[in-house]
Amino acid sequence: MKTGNLGHSSFEILKKARELERAGREVIHLHIGEPDFNTPDNIIEAAYSAMKAGFTHYTDPQGIADLREAISWYQEVYRGVRIDPRRVIVTPGAKMMILYSLLVTVEPGDEVIYTDPGYMSYRAHISLAGGVPVAWKLTPEDGFFHDPEKLKSLISPRTRALILNFPHNPTGVTIKGDTLRELMKIAVDRGIYVISDEIYSRIIFDGEHTSALGMEGSDEFLFLIDGFSKTYAMTGWRIGYGIVPEKFVQMVVKLQMSTVSCATSFVQRAAIEAIKGPQDSVKVMVEAFKRRRDIATRILKDAGVSHVIPQGAFYVFPDLKVDTDRFANFLLENYGVAVLPGSYFGTRGKGHIRISFASSDEKIREGVMRILEALERFKSL
Ligand SMILES: Cc1ncc(COP(=O)(O)O)c(C=O)c1O
Repeated sequence: MKTGNLGHSSFEILKKARELERAGREVIHLHIGEPDFNTPDNIIEAAYSAMKAGFTHYTDPQGIADLREAISWYQEVYRGVRIDPRRVIVTPGAKMMILYSLLVTVEPGDEVIYTDPGYMSYRAHISLAGGVPVAWKLTPEDGFFHDPEKLKSLISPRTRALILNFPHNPTGVTIKGDTLRELMKIAVDRGIYVISDEIYSRIIFDGEHTSALGMEGSDEFLFLIDGFSKTYAMTGWRIGYGIVPEKFVQMVVKLQMSTVSCATSFVQRAAIEAIKGPQDSVKVMVEAFKRRRDIATRILKDAGVSHVIPQGAFYVFPDLKVDTDRFANFLLENYGVAVLPGSYFGTRGKGHIRISFASSDEKIREGVMRILEALERFKSL
């Protein structure tokens, strides 16, 4: 199996940053794709209690019934849509569910549309599923607008699926209900499956999250992806889920059974607590991300660095208009700030960097100032 087309990983930058730290250098980590908060105590307690009570065995490969019920309840509360818990599949991380969705829908040679820039795993997963990735190129000039007309122009008789992601990694853009409805209609009318990755749905700064769940055709054509990694700072627990069309449930369950068997038993119990327990920690975290977004974007704006103001997730994706593959290295080595070069997110990411807000207010302020300083020097080299 060839892994050359699986793309970059943010772990590469982390490795380099760690090497510098081992050599005694201080590094500001603005490349991180996970909340800097710890998992709330009530969730940890729930996992511990489950373990102590002997809940340490294989579970139903689809996920324990109580968690699927809780996830179904969650959709009603946060997305206003009632769904049958039999359509919920609990997986070790949302990422796994993205791959399963592609594996059950895509035949070799089928085309799958994904956004460029976009989350780096999509392209890799499309290739793993034997599909042909078709890039939907977004531009900062129109705020990375997901233009329905542009989508239409990318569709061919071989188009099998479309991956959407709001709030969007790495740009932080969200979408208006009407536009999302239009995108859904374009796909559904043509029998194209929509994989809507809504992992950042609770991390919204202005307005409310718009979900594809419940939109026309979603029962038959939508794979809704969500999870616990971002909302509840549970990245290392590996727990996520999908809500899939009824006819695909058993296929996905089979895939899970024959690969990882099930999501970790006691983590599933912890996930119930995450959903049903107090939500104050989510509020605190989102307020912090919003404050940090404001800090970072104000500094960028004052310096005249072009960027689209993120409405959700915890990244900003400024256009530095330089070779950011080289710049990211220069920045890390000379100014001790780790960011991800935009090219990690596709060809349209060139010239950009992704700055993550998963660091303290002070470090973000200091880090962004250093980025500007480094940029001036880099340009004069
Ligand atoms: C857009 C997007 N989807 C999915 C994931 C992965 O989520 P999980 O940790 O649940 O696998 C990430 C993580 O960075 C992401 O940014």
